[in-house]
Amino acid sequence: MTIMDKTADIPAPRAGGSDDSPLLEVRDLHVEFHTRDGVAKAVNGVNYSVDSGETLAVLGESGSGKSVTAQAIMGILDMPPGKIPQGQILYRGQDMLTMSYEERRKIRGQKIAMIFQDALSSLNPVLSVGYQLGEMFRVHQGLSKKQAKAKAIELMERVKIPAAKQRVGDYPHQFSGGMRQRIMIAMALALEPDLIIADEPTTALDVTVQAQVMDLLKELQTEFNMGLILITHDLGVVADVADKIAVMYAGRIVETAPVHELYKRPAHPYTRGLLDSIPRLDQKGQELYAIKGLPPNLLKIPSGCAFNPRCPKAEDICRTEIPALVPVSEQDGSELPGRGSACHFWKETIHG
Ligand SMILES: Nc1ncnc2c1ncn2[C@@H]1O[C@H](COP(=O)(O)OP(=O)(O)OP(=O)(O)O)[C@@H](O)[C@H]1O
Ligand SMILES: [Mg+2]
Repeated sequence: MTIMDKTADIPAPRAGGSDDSPLLEVRDLHVEFHTRDGVAKAVNGVNYSVDSGETLAVLGESGSGKSVTAQAIMGILDMPPGKIPQGQILYRGQDMLTMSYEERRKIRGQKIAMIFQDALSSLNPVLSVGYQLGEMFRVHQGLSKKQAKAKAIELMERVKIPAAKQRVGDYPHQFSGGMRQRIMIAMALALEPDLIIADEPTTALDVTVQAQVMDLLKELQTEFNMGLILITHDLGVVADVADKIAVMYAGRIVETAPVHELYKRPAHPYTRGLLDSIPRLDQKGQELYAIKGLPPNLLKIPSGCAFNPRCPKAEDICRTEIPALVPVSEQDGSELPGRGSACHFWKETIHG
């Protein structure tokens, strides 16, 4: 069964693009993988949007469909085995899924750029960093070799790589992990995109370097007024960086909220579980909470709410009816803009 989710911050579909369209809007997106063992339903009706200058953090355990959604937006899904049976991906109001290959190619890479977790495998080991950065300008803007090199140095300076002029001819392995991730950011910025999708951009780095890279990304995003979709399973990273959060579970958005409200008052038991499992400095020595059980097998997602077998609050209805993502309000009925929960018992969860 599929149901159209309704959220507070998701406007009605538009036929064509218009100025008031969000920068990027994913609507009721479904992605499945046809495997030997059956159909794995990786994305099951995702809705989210991000505007210029805004950061959306997408959060959820491993396998919840965060990266697959991003790959669908970038048009880099493996198809087959992947398939998009339903949904829209609107860039400034225009559905990229129905665009011609040529139209789509112009958006991908130029208007929307992606940063991956593993810089080493995304960069070509046998070409210098300067060559790879410069290539963007030679191919897309027809610049000469010399002009492209100057641009590459400029970009390396932008992302604060020390001694950029001297290092422009160095190869990827000659840079530290943090510096390589800065090169990936430079690469993404090269064509001045409107939107950056960063998929676990700092996960492979140690904590201090993580913070530096994150700060840089945030700084550049503000300067260029870009939209940012930040995919992470680390709730600690997002608090300082994101404006709003979408929490994913088994291929669906189960909660959306402005970042600080989510931390203060989660409206879904899954979000509450994620928050309770963050180590806290003021509770040293106490056993860390963990959500019981494991995320579901996507070949066989539980009926009703996919989280029900792990949920401390589950009742009969949770085992039979998929909860829609509905607007969340204050106890007196007043609106909580941007908030939504896909829990039958959201009221008890947030107000209880
Ligand atoms: N090419 C593929 N073929 C088959 N299944 C796939 C393929 N790509 C992804 N999947 C499945 O889709 C599901 C969602 O994967 P996805 O990579 O989006 O998870 P994620 O939320 O990004 O997790 P993580 O935090 O581990 O990166 C997973 O169960 C994964 O095995
Ligand atoms: Mg992932």
